[in-house]
Amino acid sequence: MTAPLDSISSSSSSTHQISTHPPIALKNLVKDYGTLKAVDHVSFEMRPGEILGLLGPNGAGKTTIISTLVTLEKPTSGEARIFGLDVTEDPERTKMLTGFVPQELIHHGYFDVEEILEFHSGYFGRRKNRDRIDWLLQKLSLWEHRKKKVKQLSGGMKRRLLIAKALVHEPKLLLLDEPTAGVDIELRESLWRFVGELKATGLSILLTTHYIQEAEQLCDRIGILQKGKLRHLGPTRELIKELTKREIVIRVKGAVPENLLSPYFVKRQGEELIFQVPSNMGAGDLLSGLGMDLKSIADLVIREGNLEDALRRVLGEGSNNVSADGLTKAKS
Ligand SMILES: Nc1ncnc2c1ncn2[C@@H]1O[C@H](COP(=O)(O)OP(=O)(O)O)[C@@H](O)[C@H]1O
Ligand SMILES: [Mg+2]
Repeated sequence: MTAPLDSISSSSSSTHQISTHPPIALKNLVKDYGTLKAVDHVSFEMRPGEILGLLGPNGAGKTTIISTLVTLEKPTSGEARIFGLDVTEDPERTKMLTGFVPQELIHHGYFDVEEILEFHSGYFGRRKNRDRIDWLLQKLSLWEHRKKKVKQLSGGMKRRLLIAKALVHEPKLLLLDEPTAGVDIELRESLWRFVGELKATGLSILLTTHYIQEAEQLCDRIGILQKGKLRHLGPTRELIKELTKREIVIRVKGAVPENLLSPYFVKRQGEELIFQVPSNMGAGDLLSGLGMDLKSIADLVIREGNLEDALRRVLGEGSNNVSADGLTKAKS
């Protein structure tokens, strides 16, 4: 069974046009584990060809959403669709359309890299898939390791093999759950570059990551999850604009003015006066409003808000799981 590019047929003769449906559509998705709501009424639609990032502290429900999409978990209630097909009712067809890179590494210890890709390809009905396999081996720098057994691979190589395996049957949707966890910076950069290339081929990509800066650069839209709830979803730039403020820091020479009657003044740190202004307000507007003597200004720094600030805002000012290094493990 080989799926044509834009449609997929079931064993019955009905043909389902995938291009007319969102790659992912969740409607009030709920997943309970006992009394815990791992996913709490989450609804969103993915846009074709976009990279959508799901961010949130550990335990927010990211993996559970992905597990539901690949039918490793059954929804408690609500609906999960892939290209219009309900994942519970149509698991074969939705799996065929989906490539999935799990958060945990696999251990097919006794097979070599090439065999795993061949088996997986065959499993999805693609037996003459040499070109695709070779292309993935090259792209993911696995070519020279293709005869190695999985147990001989490093963590980074295993991660790359998982990505190759997810892509070997030419899915239309790729789910990447923490694809760069525990991967060194060089490999991380090359993997993200590859994800960008995949997007350019029209693949729709949902990813989760702890690396906020990388998500900011790569993702068209960001969804922020907290305790199973989707707190925000929007285009990355707009989210940052909406949720953060521009910070202007003025370092003064000599005496710091006593009374700063500016609505934008936040605090003073030594010789630095810190202001938060709307994202469209320039330093000139701020300064003219302050009526400060320009000679008393030693330096001025403008800091635009970023995704990290936006996350901190959504997850709570006191959130200790947002840091410059990304979202760290929630302290539970
Ligand atoms: N199989 C399971 N049984 C019970 N609780 C689970 C199971 N899988 C996940 N959970 C819980 O569900 C919540 C969401 O987990 P998960 O989706 O893995 O979060 P994330 O991927 O955002 O870190 C967590 O509180 C986690 O402990
Ligand atoms: Mg997870």
